[in-house]
Amino acid sequence: MAEISQDISKAVNYLNQGKLIGLPTETVYGLAANALNTDAVLKIFEVKNRPSFDPLIVHAHSIDEVKKYAQGIPWKALQLAGAFWPGPLTLVLQKKELIPDLVTSGLDTVAVRIPDHPLALELLRQLDFPIAAPSANPFGYVSPTTPEHVSGQLGDQIPLILDGGSCDVGIESTIIGFEGDEPVIFRLGGKTVEEIETIIGKVTIELTQGSNPRAPGMLDSHYAPKIPLVLGNIDQLIEEHSGKKIGILALDKVYPKIEKQNQIQLSVDGDLNEAAKNLFKALRNLDAMDVDIILAETMPDHSLGRAINDRLKRAAS
Ligand code: TXA
Ligand code: MG
Repeated sequence: MAEISQDISKAVNYLNQGKLIGLPTETVYGLAANALNTDAVLKIFEVKNRPSFDPLIVHAHSIDEVKKYAQGIPWKALQLAGAFWPGPLTLVLQKKELIPDLVTSGLDTVAVRIPDHPLALELLRQLDFPIAAPSANPFGYVSPTTPEHVSGQLGDQIPLILDGGSCDVGIESTIIGFEGDEPVIFRLGGKTVEEIETIIGKVTIELTQGSNPRAPGMLDSHYAPKIPLVLGNIDQLIEEHSGKKIGILALDKVYPKIEKQNQIQLSVDGDLNEAAKNLFKALRNLDAMDVDIILAETMPDHSLGRAINDRLKRAAS
């Protein structure tokens, strides 16, 4: 069973030996390996049960470091990196030879980011390689935001989870790629479209689906609890599903027709940052309830509400 510890030197040792560890970041916990060691990266796909056509994000501690792994970096990418790294933003850039094809699923691009978490940054500084890390959940399930979430699902397959507490942002990084020099958002996430547009102006959003070869991992069905989830207007959904045992995921409202203990509010103040932070834990808690169906409320369609709605749509799929 994985040890949960704050001891960075243990993490360094395991990663140097080509082993996997649970890695805290500000977004979600990652399942981390030496990105330059193909055998170690292969274990990530095995442990997660992840198809090899779904490429991984490479984590580094500085922009200089990123330049060792990526080339031809567009000006707008550099502006975003300067404004938001370390932070919940991943840039898809032309890869250099050094990055193994297994990491990028054979694409000629590599996804990179600098995570904004003190333990992750300190660990990266102590390593002489970057870290490949997908979210530390079995493929298709809800991402983990605490060491206990990682331990519960993958704990018997890894020796160590670095304990960085619960994740501040709570949903994955925003992913931006480039068509020529023009930015395209592939995944909504912790850095909002509004924030991104203040730096580089209008961006195209092309949320990727299973069939899109540019981000092959963004399958329609993802983040899925085991109990069926439907998304929409809760009052209406309660009528449609009368007779079933109902669990509710709301932003701030309590619905009097449903038992209180079967309802979770993501933020009693209606704060979307807090809602994002609580989202995955709430989905796990609902999944553990004795209910037949989870009714999820559509969030306001701005700032982090958009990224939350994207997760809920995929959870419902
Ligand atoms: O916040 C995050 O991004 C977390 C933490 C651990 O850093 N990581 C994460 O990784 O969410 P993962 O593997 O669950 O999601 C990575 C996504 C996948 O959907 C994959 O398809 C996309 O990044 N991706 C990776 N490399 C890519 C590339 N070269 N081109 C397009 N998409 C890529
Ligand atoms: Mg994931």
